[in-house]
Amino acid sequence: MNNLFNNRIADFAVKGKRYVNLDNAATTSPLKAVEKGVEDYLTTYGSVHRGSGEKSKISTNIYEESREIIKDFVGAPKDSYVIFSGNTTGGMNILAHFFSFLKGKVAVSSIEHSSSWLPWIKTEGEKALGAEQVNYTNVGDLADEVQKLGGEQVLTYGLDKNGEFDLAKIEQLLKTEDIKVFILTASSNLTGYCPDIKKVGELVHKYGAFYIVDGCQFIQHHPINMVEMGIDFLVASGHKFYAPYGGGFVVGPKEFLDKFLPYQIGGGNLPYITSGGRFLRYKNQLAHDPGTPNAVGAVSMGLALKELKKIGLEKVEKYETELTKFAYQGLKEIKGVKLLVPEKHLSTVIPFVIEGKSATAVADELNNKYAIGVRAGNFCVYHVVRDLLKITPEQEKQIIADVEKGDVSSMPGVIRASFSICNNREDAERLIDAVQQIASK
Ligand SMILES: Cc1ncc(COP(=O)(O)O)c(C=O)c1O
Repeated sequence: MNNLFNNRIADFAVKGKRYVNLDNAATTSPLKAVEKGVEDYLTTYGSVHRGSGEKSKISTNIYEESREIIKDFVGAPKDSYVIFSGNTTGGMNILAHFFSFLKGKVAVSSIEHSSSWLPWIKTEGEKALGAEQVNYTNVGDLADEVQKLGGEQVLTYGLDKNGEFDLAKIEQLLKTEDIKVFILTASSNLTGYCPDIKKVGELVHKYGAFYIVDGCQFIQHHPINMVEMGIDFLVASGHKFYAPYGGGFVVGPKEFLDKFLPYQIGGGNLPYITSGGRFLRYKNQLAHDPGTPNAVGAVSMGLALKELKKIGLEKVEKYETELTKFAYQGLKEIKGVKLLVPEKHLSTVIPFVIEGKSATAVADELNNKYAIGVRAGNFCVYHVVRDLLKITPEQEKQIIADVEKGDVSSMPGVIRASFSICNNREDAERLIDAVQQIASK
């Protein structure tokens, strides 16, 4: 995967050493094609959906084209809307808002990122509490009550002993509870495990629920097709697929989205307000485009997905999984290294710890001494980390006590090395060598 990034990005060095970025699951650098496309876009940048001038027309057309590129890339049904959000967190909050108007419960997997879980707790909890909220003078008490009430509406389904979803258990949940919406990540941000999205979707639809998939760790690494996989709503973040300009998206059915007032309303997303104060609404995706949009964010996503399509997702998938496998095999040989994902679930991320060493200290050393960027911590999936590290209830009690005192030093943590098309064999070798040296001390 040569030459996809500008040299100043690919050759970035720390203290004379070429920097190896193995934190791609957190965020990614822009592709060369994205940087160039954004620069061109800015040349003719003008008001989107607002003006009659040439720049406004050009800007609006390119902005709208981005929606089509996204729809095409994710294999969306013809009648889909693309709603721009700041990121996946923003997208999930938009969906949680809409679904809070429907009756029924929410099902969220135990491996979801907090951004696919907490928006549901908050919206469902706030809805249940309603006007009672004003009776709370203490913000902490209100938060506790919202969490309690939200938790009653948001059910969790977990993994079996093999670390996979049990379809029979999922079916049981759907059969016995009135589930309105079912949420699942297409790839775990910590282990890379990719559940069978299609099979789960068949069950979700059999019981009449809507199916939301968090695609933000998936669409840049593996081919996706919403129609074939039976996905109703797909959410992703541009910064994770080489378009770090503040864009994210939700793709979902027009029929559903036309039923709701937009998540945000004000300027731009309604065609007319009558003298009587009645506002008329667009029956298209513009209704969900409040204010002057982050056009560069939207356009950059179109540029990135166009480039990824040109490379070919099958080719990307093969390249990245082979590279990750190579690193995995190398790390596996090192005494003291504990890999926290079984090989059969390996995608593009490797979670690991070095026995007897703090995860954050190892990550710091990898950066400071070896110019290798990884991440260490809980990755917004506390439940997954607790399971992987087999944290006991006693240990958790101590962690809670420490954190409440403001001391986070006893927090458990995992190191994550995450690969992308920006990496090569030399990067993997540098990681293996550095971990070998750290582990041997
Ligand atoms: C699986 C998953 N979902 C959601 C998010 C949240 O994404 P963002 O920070 O772009 O909102 C992340 C970010 O790491 C993630 O890995």
